[in-house]
Amino acid sequence: MIIKWKPEFSCYDRTIDEQHKKMIDMINEMYELSLYDDHIDRYDSIVEIFSSLTDYAIYHFGHEEKLFKEHDYDSFNTKVQIHEHKSFINKVATMSLYDLDENQNKTISAMLNFLSQWLEHHILVIDKRFGEFLKEKYEK
Ligand SMILES: [Fe+2]
Repeated sequence: MIIKWKPEFSCYDRTIDEQHKKMIDMINEMYELSLYDDHIDRYDSIVEIFSSLTDYAIYHFGHEEKLFKEHDYDSFNTKVQIHEHKSFINKVATMSLYDLDENQNKTISAMLNFLSQWLEHHILVIDKRFGEFLKEKYEK
């Protein structure tokens, strides 16, 4: 396991939390495949999960952006979020192109490091802020 769900990851919204958990599972699935040392080439399977994860992230961003509108999230934080979503999409688009056949191990470990660090930051810093906002707004 390269990234583990912790209670502090909760953004106080069940759907967002479920989607984050699913993304964590996909990253861990890629990681588990990368650990096999039985000379079977798993690169294609890893890249396949990576591409499903990218698609899922785009769907997840859409869900979050819909909620920002619905709950009237302030425009500054909405802009920060949308910027964060766009830069992730750009980054994974370039990532899936480089070193496709050479240096597979290096590429996979760079992908996994990026994804796990990115997700942790996305959840704990960016989405958490929205979660706190929801909590404050609806708990009063
Ligand atoms: Fe998120």
